[in-house]
Formats: sequence, structure tokens, C-alpha cells
Amino acid sequence: MLTPYEIIRKKRDGGTLSREEIGLLISSYTSGDVPDYQMSSFLMAVYFSGMSDEEILNFTQSMMGTGIVIDLSAIPGCKADKHSTGGVGDKISLILAPLAAACGVKVPMVSGRGLGHTGGTIDKLESIPGFRTRLSIEEYKRTLASTGIVMSAQSDEIVPADRKLYALRDVTATVESIPLITSSIMSKKLAEGIDALVLDVKVGNGAFMKTVSEAKALAKKMVKVGKLYGKQVVAYLTDMNQPLGHEAGNWREVVESIRVLRGESDAHDVIELSKTLTAEMVSLCSGDSMKKSMERVTQALSNGAAYEKFIEMVKAQGGDSSFIENPEKYPPARFTFEVQARQSGYVHAIDSFGVGMAVVKLGGGRRKVSDVVDPVVGVTVVSKIGEKVSTGDVLALVHANDKDAAGLAVEEVAGAYKFSGAKPKAANLIKERIA
Ligand code: URA
Repeated sequence: MLTPYEIIRKKRDGGTLSREEIGLLISSYTSGDVPDYQMSSFLMAVYFSGMSDEEILNFTQSMMGTGIVIDLSAIPGCKADKHSTGGVGDKISLILAPLAAACGVKVPMVSGRGLGHTGGTIDKLESIPGFRTRLSIEEYKRTLASTGIVMSAQSDEIVPADRKLYALRDVTATVESIPLITSSIMSKKLAEGIDALVLDVKVGNGAFMKTVSEAKALAKKMVKVGKLYGKQVVAYLTDMNQPLGHEAGNWREVVESIRVLRGESDAHDVIELSKTLTAEMVSLCSGDSMKKSMERVTQALSNGAAYEKFIEMVKAQGGDSSFIENPEKYPPARFTFEVQARQSGYVHAIDSFGVGMAVVKLGGGRRKVSDVVDPVVGVTVVSKIGEKVSTGDVLALVHANDKDAAGLAVEEVAGAYKFSGAKPKAANLIKERIA
């Protein structure tokens, strides 16, 4: 058997690793025998050399093998989940999970933290005072059985390898890799005990996949791995060429989600995407058409059932629901600065990567593994693509707890906006469905 050094070297030089070699590296890393510096080097080798389909499958299987595969067969009903490959302002899970549960789907969701410039559902949920994301398997099952929804972080029991690898990739610029994203997402999803999975594969300047062809390749790999495990899997390619909705930043995104659930938001992109992906989950579980499933979803959103389910979930996981009922109770960031238009014209493009990095630099994401995120900082995207602005108009707001960081973020966000004299053509939010 090769040593970790030899395995890294083999991948660096474009070799194909055996099941045993991959298994050894993953289990030794999880147990602490392989240090972060060797694993970082291996991840960079995978980033540059890629992996064959068989290696991806073995990598996914080895990751799953570091924890347990949860058996939810004692809980009646179809269990379905959604996972996004990561975006800016992507708060869809916070809306979709209670919405699907309100339509009768059981939603066991294992989510991640912020990764690179993208936000993570767990960081958002943890901004709710008291909310617990580290649940034992027993608590996970009990919560799902009683409320029909559970939103949990990876633990020592659920794919601990990904918990470590995810944090390492976040700070070593090794996220944008089809094999690493596929194995990270699918190992978690296959371990959580679901029957059906909807994947939201983001494409654009705020996504890890910049082109439709890359995103399609990633979607196809994930669908293939899921189907090999007998799951119903559908992937959507969706636009990430501007932040989703108006808010980026952990607590700010929770508040925007609450507004959508209460029917108080004008964030059309967030609403459309949440409803479509939820309808797909309902359709996969019920066998009903998308049209019929969409009618159920629309009703559960407009009659308040999804909002009530969100409150129930927050309470079940120890969160203080008074902050959901009265978000203004939450202490705000100390400073809010305006980002003003430096020219007139139509907003032609917004570099979502820049907006995401502004949030990270404000303290809303991590630069190193040990960083603690600041829940209240973030960016409000006031003007979106296609809007006409004049010099001096407010394009965005930067919410900060540190004046120096705010200055940097204002420049970053100002630089993210591009203008044109003519109104740009609207991009399709939902580009393709891959089943
Ligand atoms: N989400 C994950 O869980 N893993 C990735 O690698 C990217 C997005």
C-alpha cells in the first residue's frame, strides 16, 4: 500500500487512485494520522488533475464510510432534501425546507457552513439565538419524526471526513473542483437517509462553476452517483450572476427568508426558485405533476403554513422564536454605509463573487478554519441587474461592525457593479433541469 506521500505524488502526476488508496487517505485524515498540510496538498492535486468517475464514486463511498448512514425507515413518508452547490445570498434552504415540510414531505437536511465566498445554511441558522445545529442521531430522528423537518450540521457521526475537508477546502482555494464538490455533497446526502434529492447547481460569477458546460458536468456527475445508490435525483442549473434576493450575510438572510415566508418580500428570484425546487421535491415524493405540486406549494406559502413550520422547526431545535416573530429585536450591526452609483445607466452586471468576498471581509465568513463568523454583518443589494440608476443613487448598503472593514467592503461592492447605456436582456433564473 502506498504512503500518503506516494498517494499525493501519484495524483499530482495525473495517476488514477485505487479504492484502497483513496480509502486509506480519507480514513487516516479523519483519524488525524494524515495532517492538514498533506491533505491540502492532495486536494490541490485533485483540483489540477481531476478524478475518473470510478475515483469519484470511491471517494464519495470512503467519505460516507467515516460515519454512519442514517436509517429513517421507521419514520413514515417520503424523505427528500435539496442541496445547493453554493452561491451568494442563497437562502433558498431556509424557505424551501419548511415549505416542503408544510406540503407533507419529510425533510431531513444536513447542511454546510460558508465555503469560500459563498454563505452556508448552518452559519445562517446559527445566527438565530439558541438554535442548535449539532444534533445527535437520536435527536435528528426525533425532530424529524415530530415536526417533519430537521436542519442539522455534519457531526462526528454524519460524514466526519467532509466536516474536516470542507473546512480545509474553504481556506485553501480548493473548492472549485467537480470531484471534490460531488463527493462532498453526495456523501452527506446519501448518509442522511433520503429517498429523493433536488440539486441546485449554481452557474455564474458567484458560483463555483462559471460556465453552463462546467455546471452541467457537475450536475450529471452528482445525478449519476445518486442514481447508483437508488435515489431519485433531479438537478437544476440556476443563475448566480447576481446575488439572490437583496440580502447577503447570515442574520440578514434569515430575515429576508422570514419575509418571504410571511409573504412580505418582493425578492422575486428567491420566491420563484424556492417554489420551483420545493415543487420538484413534492413531485418526486408524491408522483404528482409539477403543475399540481406547484399549486400545493403556492398555497402552503400564501396561507402561512410554511411560516408556521419554520417557527416550529426553530423551537424544536432550541431556537428563540421571538426573534423570528420580531426580527427587529436583534441587535443590528454598528455601522451602515451606502454604496452610491458613480455613474448613471442601467445596472448591467454585478460581480457576485465580489459581493460574497465583501461579506467575508466584514467577518460574515471565514478566512481561516478557526474564525468565528459575525452574524449581523452583510450587504443589502438595493439595485439589481436591469435597474436604471443615476449618479449618487444607493446601489447597496454595507452593514459592518468595523469601520476599516466597512471601507474595504464599500470599495469591493462599488467595483462589483457594471453599467451600460442600454437595458440588458434578463437572464433566465432557471436554465435547465437534468434528471
Ligand atoms: N456544498 C457542499 O456541501 N460541498 C461543496 O463542496 C460545495 C458546496
